[in-house]
Amino acid sequence: MTRPPVHFLVTAGPTREFLDPVRFISNRSSGKMGYAIATAAREAGGDVILVSGPTALAAPSGVPTISVVSAQEMADAVLSRFDQSDVVIMAAAVCDFRPRQVAPHKLKKQTIGGMLELEPTIDILAELGRRKSKQIIVGFAVETENLAQYGRDKLRRKGADLLVANTTEAFDRETNQVILLGNDGATDLLPEMTKTQLAALIIERALRLVA
Ligand code: CTP
Repeated sequence: MTRPPVHFLVTAGPTREFLDPVRFISNRSSGKMGYAIATAAREAGGDVILVSGPTALAAPSGVPTISVVSAQEMADAVLSRFDQSDVVIMAAAVCDFRPRQVAPHKLKKQTIGGMLELEPTIDILAELGRRKSKQIIVGFAVETENLAQYGRDKLRRKGADLLVANTTEAFDRETNQVILLGNDGATDLLPEMTKTQLAALIIERALRLVA
């Protein structure tokens, strides 16, 4: 009997948190890792939806892609599709903070310094960890030090099944070197490889966890 396709929900890219119609807070994410993961999931026979922040990349072929801008938009897109998903892979670099107020008009530079108050965005991965029933959840972590230890803390704190920990070296490169951490205690230091190879490996590991 053939198995029904596994439903993947993958996020990619940065988010942007606007301060006024011109200025925003964001980060260095290119989206390459998340797009490679969506492609690998499709190639593995999965039914894939990609939720992407602003990137310069073309949508992977055969993968419906939902474009979002802010962390809140990404949260809405992901949480509304969570119940129909088997595997959720949070490769996006979601901004942790956003301006408390968004000005409807361009702010004058003299006023910005004094009024730039930030508030936390919703932690999508942690919310998925709280809501999950049968879903397998894969998170990412970027750290500059204590990769394995901080990664393992994050895995536990956010309720993920698998966590891909990498350093800032990964930004905008074609290759990546990561530590894969499982909630069963597994710690795998992988050799440097292309993002395409790593994506296939992450999908293979996630599929092993699907009941
Ligand atoms: N993430 C998320 N929502 C956020 C921030 C991060 O879903 N608002 C997800 C990312 O997609 C990624 C993981 O959480 O899978 C990365 O977490 P990170 O921001 O590195 O962790 P923090 O809890 O913010 O820890 P730190 O203190 O290291 O910043």
